[in-house]
Amino acid sequence: MALFVERWGDTVSRWSEDRLHIRAKREGYRSRAAYKLIEIQQRFHVIRKNDCVIDLGAAPGSWLQVAREFTNGQVTGVDLNEIQPLEGVLTIRGDFSEPKVQEGIAEIVPRVDLIVSDASPRITGHRSLDQARAIGLNMDVLVFADRFLVDDGRIIIKSFQGDLFQEFLSGVRGRFGIVHLYRPHATRRGSAEIYVIGKRFRGSGAVADRPVRQEDHEP
Ligand SMILES: C[S@@+](CC[C@H](N)C(=O)[O-])C[C@H]1O[C@@H](n2cnc3c(N)ncnc32)[C@H](O)[C@@H]1O
Repeated sequence: MALFVERWGDTVSRWSEDRLHIRAKREGYRSRAAYKLIEIQQRFHVIRKNDCVIDLGAAPGSWLQVAREFTNGQVTGVDLNEIQPLEGVLTIRGDFSEPKVQEGIAEIVPRVDLIVSDASPRITGHRSLDQARAIGLNMDVLVFADRFLVDDGRIIIKSFQGDLFQEFLSGVRGRFGIVHLYRPHATRRGSAEIYVIGKRFRGSGAVADRPVRQEDHEP
């Protein structure tokens, strides 16, 4: 297993943040978060052209827009909040960690080659509580991957550095052959946010009948 940690330069100031917001509006993206996924894609080539992609915590939908641009496969978004319709994208309203919602997903999603998750819990302002809830959500994404992600699949998860981060990272390392940590330039300066990118999914060993990849992809 290989672990690559990217060095990161200055992240965005409030001034650049506003510019990104304006740029997103001009270019038709629903949020400036689009530029984080674009940057991750340019650097790590995570989305491949026939991938079935599922976005956990997808509203308002800018990552769905970016995923739609990079793959011809099915793109599905799940969120607690309503996602306004997007051409060529399936949307599901609900909590992705709930068994009932997962049953619904299993019925309409043929396979999952890539999971992306920019999900965040509602912020309370208590730093350690917020971090614990964020890592809890990250763990839910890993459990989701154990059930849905194909053998050799990929993942992008937003996480937050802090006390519990290493524990989460161990969970990722245990499942993926290649792990990158990356902080996009579009991230707010001072934020603890960090993106974890996993490739070569091998499973946790906890689920015996995980889906197997059904078609070949570009290397
Ligand atoms: C930062 S926003 C995502 C922005 C999105 N990547 C975009 O580009 O438009 C985080 C989202 O995570 C969602 N979320 C948090 N927990 C969730 C859960 N358990 N199930 C589904 N959605 C969740 C929130 O409702 C919120 O809309």
